[in-house]
Amino acid sequence: MLALVYTAPGEKALLERPKPQIAAATDAIVKMTRTTICGTDLHILKGDVPSCQPGRILGHEGVGIVESVGAAVGRFRTGDHVLVSCVTSCARCHYCRQQMFSHCENGGWILGNTIDGTQAEFVRIPHADSSLYPAYDGADEESLAMLSDILPTGLECGVLNGKVQPGGIVAIVGAGPVGLAALLTAQFFTPALLIAVDLDENRLNAAMRLGATAAINSNDSHALESLMKMTGGRGVDTAIEAVGVPATFDLCQKIIAPGGTIANVGVHGKKVDLHLENLWDRNISITTRLVDTATMPMLLNLLRAGRIDPKRLITHRYAFADALAAYDTFSQAASTHALKVMLEF
Ligand SMILES: NC(=O)c1ccc[n+]([C@@H]2O[C@H](COP(=O)([O-])OP(=O)(O)OC[C@H]3O[C@@H](n4cnc5c(N)ncnc54)[C@H](O)[C@@H]3O)[C@@H](O)[C@H]2O)c1
Ligand SMILES: [Zn+2]
Ligand SMILES: [Zn+2]
Repeated sequence: MLALVYTAPGEKALLERPKPQIAAATDAIVKMTRTTICGTDLHILKGDVPSCQPGRILGHEGVGIVESVGAAVGRFRTGDHVLVSCVTSCARCHYCRQQMFSHCENGGWILGNTIDGTQAEFVRIPHADSSLYPAYDGADEESLAMLSDILPTGLECGVLNGKVQPGGIVAIVGAGPVGLAALLTAQFFTPALLIAVDLDENRLNAAMRLGATAAINSNDSHALESLMKMTGGRGVDTAIEAVGVPATFDLCQKIIAPGGTIANVGVHGKKVDLHLENLWDRNISITTRLVDTATMPMLLNLLRAGRIDPKRLITHRYAFADALAAYDTFSQAASTHALKVMLEF
């Protein structure tokens, strides 16, 4: 089968690989029909994710058809149309029993990381009963693929952890696919102000199209001042950090109102200063989270009912055989204006 393989730091290739086989009774083999590329895949290629070693097939998102199942799989059969969660969950361990699937002692984020992923014609899914979701009849595959990772990430790590409330004031710092997914799902709670912050005008325009009430370019020397003015000098009730660099977490610390919540979503590779000298008396909370995909049933209900349209995040489409071109487009977002890039098999 054809697979996108991380071959060496900075390098990838489309290679012929053996088709995966059932290795445990709880496994399923899924024939992929759609997959997509995540910013995390780019981090892996840069060598930022040491758990993922060269030789690995990348990808932790997508949709497919069950090809075969192990003897202990009860919920799925050959031919079932399924959504792959980016998080593998055994449903039994200490953390899974608390719905903290990202910390599953027998899974977690392993796909396209410590085991081969979804950017291939076939993928082996461990603990298939609790790591796959049935696609409802007539489901749109491209929309479904947005639920593998970015929608639950924006919702769980950003919106729910950030306690977005009706009438509240929310800033989303970083309008990449994850920040925009937070923007879409924040609207479930009808905040009064939904302010997008980014350096990239194109992404700010995308944020305005997707429901932001204001956009602020953080390159502008008056960015902080305009944001404070917009909020009557109080700052924001929820600051969602969706970039993962010190500057953006720092901005969140500057704009948070008394009683507010900073919800960190970004993956940080460098240390960040915590300004307790300014924040100790402000009654704020800071949250961190690795996406659990615990909201998948809720998101599937909303998608099925037509209450969300995550397909609006897709800007480019490629055949899987052109995956290298798709990576080029995705990694040069500033010039290509790419958000999510869909790969079709
Ligand atoms: N916590 C989790 O479980 C989880 C899951 C998935 C992704 N992530 C992380 O979420 C973050 C966002 O992911 P993404 O795919 O949207 O990334 P992305 O790189 O596509 O988007 C980041 C955005 O931040 C903007 N940006 C960069 N520096 C900025 C600055 N100084 N001020 C304002 N904006 C700035 C960029 O222009 C870009 O639009 C990443 O760190 C990713 O690794 C976390
Ligand atoms: Zn991802
Ligand atoms: Zn578990």
